[in-house]
Amino acid sequence: MINQQLLSTTDYQLPAHIAIIMDGNGRWAKDRGLNRTAGHEEGAKVVRKITSYCAKIGIKYLTMYAFSTENWNRPKLEVEFLMRLLEKYFKSELKTYLDNNIRFRAIGDLEKFSKNLRQAIGEVEEKTLHCTGLTQILALNYGSRDEITRAVNKALNDDKEITIDTINSYLDTSFAPGVDLVIRTSGEVRVSNFLLWQSAYAEYFFTKTLWPDFTEYELEDIISDFSKRERRFGGV
Ligand code: IPE
Ligand code: IPE
Ligand code: MG
Repeated sequence: MINQQLLSTTDYQLPAHIAIIMDGNGRWAKDRGLNRTAGHEEGAKVVRKITSYCAKIGIKYLTMYAFSTENWNRPKLEVEFLMRLLEKYFKSELKTYLDNNIRFRAIGDLEKFSKNLRQAIGEVEEKTLHCTGLTQILALNYGSRDEITRAVNKALNDDKEITIDTINSYLDTSFAPGVDLVIRTSGEVRVSNFLLWQSAYAEYFFTKTLWPDFTEYELEDIISDFSKRERRFGGV
């Protein structure tokens, strides 16, 4: 039965903010003799499934790495496919967000995307602004170094003194708390320019599962494990 234990247990320390590096779509497809794009399509379904699950169990923030500032280096056809997939996703997902009381926010430098895609993103952001359950944040043309650089430049432009609080308030994620738990699928043990500032004291989990195979059961196990970790934040 899905998350029966998690839903009925009160002594779980639920992370307020989970961040996921969704990796392994290409390898999932290759293992099946399919084109890499089939892996991305399957991966998009898992985004929907995991987001709904997080909303259901009461997670407040879920950030998912969908497209990095470095992913433009992929073959043109794959990048074009991903852009079309994103547009399709935003056009079809509004109902899922509203039905589940999910607020949607995008982070990253959206300027590089087509007008159509930016419009679709803006529309979902606007129409879910009133939702009070989970906030799902998609990282799109996102890179931590790029985000921090943009934040510092904006703060300097506004004649601000550069402090930790100033930087926090100029980051794309200014509306969200720091990250408690970072999960990366596919067996790679690296962070690939994801939320470097926000994850300063996050707990990390790496699983060999490829993103299209990731399930709410595995997430439940990870959350259970997370709740047992002792976080010290530099204290004793
Ligand atoms: C993650 O899967 C999705 C994106 C980066 C868009 P990959 O496409 O990186 O899959 P692998 O790592 O090649 O298997
Ligand atoms: C990280 O995955 C980016 C996303 C999941 C969107 P990559 O597959 O691009 O990362 P590297 O190249 O293995 O570091
Ligand atoms: Mg990858």
